[in-house]
Formats: sequence, structure tokens, C-alpha cells
Amino acid sequence: MAANNHYIMHLPLIIAFILALLVPAVSAIPSKSLSSIVKELNEEGPYLGLITVYPPEENAFFSTNSFKPHPTHPYVDLSGRRFRAGKVEGKKVIYVRCGVGMVNAAAATQQMLDLFDVTGVVHFGIAGNANDSLSIGDVSIPRQLAQTGVWDWLNPNSTIPASDAAVLEIERYNVPEGGSNQLGRIGYSPEEDPSTAQRTIWFNTSKHWLRLASNLQGVKLERCVNSSVCLSQQPKLFVGLKGSTSNIFIDNAAYREFLFQTFGISSVDMESAAVVKTSVSNGFPVIVIRGLSDLAGAQRGENVIGLFGPLAAINTANVVNQFVKSLPPDTTAGN
Ligand SMILES: *[C@@H]1O[C@H](CO)[C@@H](O)[C@H](O)[C@H]1NC(C)=O
Ligand SMILES: *[C@@H]1O[C@H](CO)[C@@H](O)[C@H](O)[C@H]1NC(C)=O
Ligand SMILES: *[C@@H]1O[C@H](CO)[C@@H](O)[C@H](O)[C@H]1NC(C)=O
Ligand SMILES: *[C@@H]1O[C@H](CO)[C@@H](O)[C@H](O)[C@H]1NC(C)=O
Repeated sequence: MAANNHYIMHLPLIIAFILALLVPAVSAIPSKSLSSIVKELNEEGPYLGLITVYPPEENAFFSTNSFKPHPTHPYVDLSGRRFRAGKVEGKKVIYVRCGVGMVNAAAATQQMLDLFDVTGVVHFGIAGNANDSLSIGDVSIPRQLAQTGVWDWLNPNSTIPASDAAVLEIERYNVPEGGSNQLGRIGYSPEEDPSTAQRTIWFNTSKHWLRLASNLQGVKLERCVNSSVCLSQQPKLFVGLKGSTSNIFIDNAAYREFLFQTFGISSVDMESAAVVKTSVSNGFPVIVIRGLSDLAGAQRGENVIGLFGPLAAINTANVVNQFVKSLPPDTTAGN
């Protein structure tokens, strides 16, 4: 009797326990239909791959209303990422937000290329401006990206590896000048491309897409955040400059200047080189579209990314839409 009472008192718990056991079985079903959804979507392909990074960029992109979700399979969720199917400017696209950093960027790009029938990758987002001739609000479509995050962090007295492409001497930045600095120096190491065995820190975007981008007409670039906050000049689109990527958020004038002087880069971000490398390694065309949201440390006072980030993201999205529109109907053409 006591045992029975005990049983009844705990009935809700027991039911909850049984339900908990059932949950894994239930959630296993969508993974089966996931592959059939992907199969159905691919039968309607091919698609253009669109990859952005984080929510403010995604919000800006969706706010342009260019993305029309697929009527029956608007998205599939895969390992925490939502791959959305739809159309932009009449072109079929698979869109994903990869998450901040190079590992996220490479992983999401590889996932997209493995899973979907994609003909090329359009990567976009905001970036820091490292070139004093550019302004916040401008959009850069770089020709090359440097991977500036593979460091030989060297002992102050060591010899610099011959293969390093550049060196940052930390003691040169002491204020007041002089003395030594225990942080030593940083050598910038090229990455080896396993297919060619060549070592480079530069990754190229696709020439035929760059040519197309340099002929873009009539892209609308916003100058004002709202009726009271505006940039001093009308933003412009720049095609063919260089950018840099590392897993480092740069808000430091001295380091920004070092990167500009050493590598001749105009923008700094945390994903582009990884998306380019992954796309090119898989044999796909790729383009990078980055709107400048801040001065990467060269500003007086606080970083303005919070103020102009949304405007830079809108300008970026406008360029993305115009670029997608300009692509030939068969986006597999050319190389
Ligand atoms: C570098 O060399 C100087 C001079 O020989 C020496 O005083 C210092 O301890 C060395 N530093 C390191 C980290 O080896
Ligand atoms: C990338 O572009 C540069 C400059 O245009 C060129 O020298 C280099 O060979 C290119 N790299 C690859 C892998 O095509
Ligand atoms: C414009 O945007 C700024 C920055 O977000 C905000 O502080 C200000 O209140 C806004 N002004 C108007 C008129 O909406
Ligand atoms: C900086 O931007 C200007 C465009 O205003 C460009 O002409 C110049 O080549 C850029 N600098 C470098 C080092 O790329």
C-alpha cells in the first residue's frame, strides 16, 4: 500500500522520465527528413551561397527585403546553423550566418559546399577601416585578403624565421621610446597551400566576379543613420583593394597603422580570408563585400561601430543585392 501510494505520488515524475526517454527518439526523426529536404532543395538548384557573420549584418540584410524565403522549405538547421533557402533578385540562394571568427567561417562555408548544390560564395559583412583614404560607410570588395593571424611569437633575442612575411617589433611601440620589451616580436607566417605547396598569406577573390563588381551601377549607399546622425560625405564603393583577416577584433591605432604600412590593407575583419580559402580550396568562385563600420582604433574616443555599424551593414546588403542582380542567370558560368 505504501509502495503503491509512493508510486502514484511519483506518477508525474515517472511520466516525465518516460517522455524524456522518448525525446531523443522523436528528435532523431527530423535528421532523417533533413537529408530529404536537402535532397529536394538540391533538385531545384543550383544555388548561389550567401554567407554573413553575425546578427546585426543579418538584420540589415533582411531589412532590405531582397530575400524571399523558399515557399515550402525556408530553412534547414544543421549543427546550430540555420541554412535558409530562397531567392534574392530572382536568383536562387542558400543563405547562412556563420558566426564570428575564422573557424566558424571555414566550418560554415565547408558545410554549405558539402550539403548544397552551390555554384559560388558571396561573403559579406562589416569591417574596420584601415586606410585613411576610405571613410566609414564605404563598401570594399577586396581583390585579396591576407591571413594575418598565423604568428610566430618570438623571443626578443631570437632570429626571425626566413619564411616570415613580416615582423612586428613590440619594443618599437614603447612610450617613452627605448628599453626592451618582454613581449618580443611577432613574425607573420604564410600558410602553406597543401595543393600547390606554395606559402602565402594572400588569398584571392575570383577575378571574373571582381570584374562584374567593378561594373556595378546604381548601388544605393546611405549617408544617414537617421534625420540627425549623418556621415560627412556620401559613401562610395571600392573594388580591388586588399583586406586582412585574423581572429582579432582590432580597435588599436598603432596596430592598424602597422597592418596598413606592412600589408597595404584597407579593411580588417575576422572571417573573409577563411571563407575565401575554403571556397577556393573546394574549387568555387568567391567574392567578399565588406562595409566599413569604424576606424579600427584610429578614432578619437569611443569606437563608433555601435553608431555606424547598422548603416555600414545596410550599405553592404545593398551592394550584395546589386551584385547578385548583376550575375548572369547561369551563375556557374565563367571562372
Ligand atoms: C636577450 O639578450 C639580452 C642581452 O644579451 C639578455 O640580457 C636578455 O636576458 C635576453 N632575453 C631573453 C628573453 O633571452
Ligand atoms: C593572387 O593574386 C596575386 C596578385 O594579383 C598573384 O600574384 C597571385 O599569384 C595570385 N595567387 C593565386 C593563388 O592565384
Ligand atoms: C539618431 O540616432 C542616434 C544614434 O543611434 C540617436 O542617439 C538619436 O536619438 C537618433 N535621432 C533621431 C532623431 O532619431
Ligand atoms: C587606400 O584607398 C585609396 C582609395 O581612396 C586607394 O587609392 C589606395 O590604393 C588605398 N591604399 C592602399 C595601400 O591600398
